Amino acid sequence: MPSVPPSIAQHYHERTKYHPETIAAKSKDIDWEQQPVPFKEYKIGASFDLKPYLKNPSQGGEADRDSSELYRLSRLLLCSYGLTAKVETVDGSSLYLRAAPSAGGLYPAEIYIISRGTPHLPPGLYNYQCRTHSLVRFWDSQVWQALQAGCFWSPALENTKLAIAITTVFFRSSWRYEDRAYRRIFLDTGHLLGNIELACALNDYRPHAIGGFADAAINELLYLDSEQEGAICIIALADLLDIDQNLPKTRTALPGNIATNYPKISEGQLLGYLHKATQLESDTSGPEGWKFDESEGQLEDKYNLPFCTKVSTVTPSIHWGFKLENLENTILKRRSTRAYTGASLSLRELLALLDFTYQPHHYTDQGLDTAPDYFDLSLIETFIAVSAVTGLEEGCYYYAPKAQELRQIRFKNFRKELHYLCLGQELGRDAGAVLFHTADLKKGVEKYGDRVYRYLHMDAGHLGQRLNLAAIQLRLGVSGIAGFFDDLVNEVLGIPTDEAVLYITTFGKARS
Ligand SMILES: Cc1cc2nc3c(=O)[nH]c(=O)nc-3n(C[C@H](O)[C@H](O)[C@H](O)COP(=O)(O)O)c2cc1C
Repeated sequence: MPSVPPSIAQHYHERTKYHPETIAAKSKDIDWEQQPVPFKEYKIGASFDLKPYLKNPSQGGEADRDSSELYRLSRLLLCSYGLTAKVETVDGSSLYLRAAPSAGGLYPAEIYIISRGTPHLPPGLYNYQCRTHSLVRFWDSQVWQALQAGCFWSPALENTKLAIAITTVFFRSSWRYEDRAYRRIFLDTGHLLGNIELACALNDYRPHAIGGFADAAINELLYLDSEQEGAICIIALADLLDIDQNLPKTRTALPGNIATNYPKISEGQLLGYLHKATQLESDTSGPEGWKFDESEGQLEDKYNLPFCTKVSTVTPSIHWGFKLENLENTILKRRSTRAYTGASLSLRELLALLDFTYQPHHYTDQGLDTAPDYFDLSLIETFIAVSAVTGLEEGCYYYAPKAQELRQIRFKNFRKELHYLCLGQELGRDAGAVLFHTADLKKGVEKYGDRVYRYLHMDAGHLGQRLNLAAIQLRLGVSGIAGFFDDLVNEVLGIPTDEAVLYITTFGKARS
């Protein structure tokens, strides 16, 4: 039987893997002079200052019942992508860090608000200016119908009045990470989605993610230069204070084409080629359309491993405090850990991280979304290399989310190997545990076409953000890692070779 050629997403993944033999030759010197500014400017438009709405009335802020919409939006945007720290760099300039982490601190994402018309946000397009925590209204006409058409009439936009669009400026990341930047851009967006999901819960919104949209139409709607920028995800914001916006879940991911007939693509062109090849022009979801199928897209226990050591992960849930006040504080104070001590975390801490990330239905009584939108979690697997967790044998484990157990696949302390696998980053070596999100790319492409590459990385980033926040709440250190020797991860840790490694999250005791 003739073998099926790899699709463009598989080809891109293969071509952008890091290998010990080629990484040095492939990496160009970084030209720091070329680093793009991670802020977008609008020369024309009316500015809405959101700063006065950061405090609620009891704290002396301007918000009252009438302006509660602005208060909620202001908090939502701050907790999603607002500036949360300023760091002085060696050359004396300031680096601003945000509520969401970003690979290399490059922040390729931009956030837009699209309004159908609400008491405080007249219809139009708004860009979130995080430096001034304001919105600039750069287009002041009705655009909702065009948004609905661009999102193939997703039911999530029928009764809602506000939507977020996350877009990316590719060069902000590709300047440094070249073709592999595409992976990081979508992982970053996933982290942002994690913040948006939780910040919405804090502010009485329910975010409905829309990953299937006509790229060209949305880019045009937002006046993006589609050679430089692109829409990545749309989120309909259902206002939970309005009964009509209490919407059922809808499908988030639509399938696209599988491209197997592509030319020889030179280095430096892969990112752009993959992005164009994964755009949607029409809704190809078939008769089921946007209908949400509860039996699909859920986390599954893919690897059974009957004779291995199994450890139950059932544990008390993290308590986020009265009215979730600790959640907001945690989002605003989250930082990526820069070094670990190498000391152990406890099994109880590791289990709490897993519980918050993969068992959201345990958080009903705390008012969190029990089934937040992902694109398709049934495609994502989790493996954990344990180096120092008190009460848990060292080794590599598969995490079975439904059975809620860790299933041991290798017995060994992998510290030395993890250091190497993470491109020599000490974070990998000194972490107490290193978690890997993986997916069978071939299966994903069969289900959603090449566009699955976007969905997988956003879902891995979204899970990563929940892991980050849980770790911070437990006073653990945490950091994502998107640079690793792909194939060696599978080989060394015993992760099946069909599993493409998407993303790494490290945890441990942070060095202060
Ligand atoms: C997708 C992704 C990949 C990352 N990869 C690495 C990495 O390989 N090494 C590292 O030290 N930090 C990594 N980070 C952390 C970023 O460097 C960090 O988010 C950024 O410097 C901003 O700082 P903050 O997270 O404290 O806000 C990553 C973060 C993300 C979201």
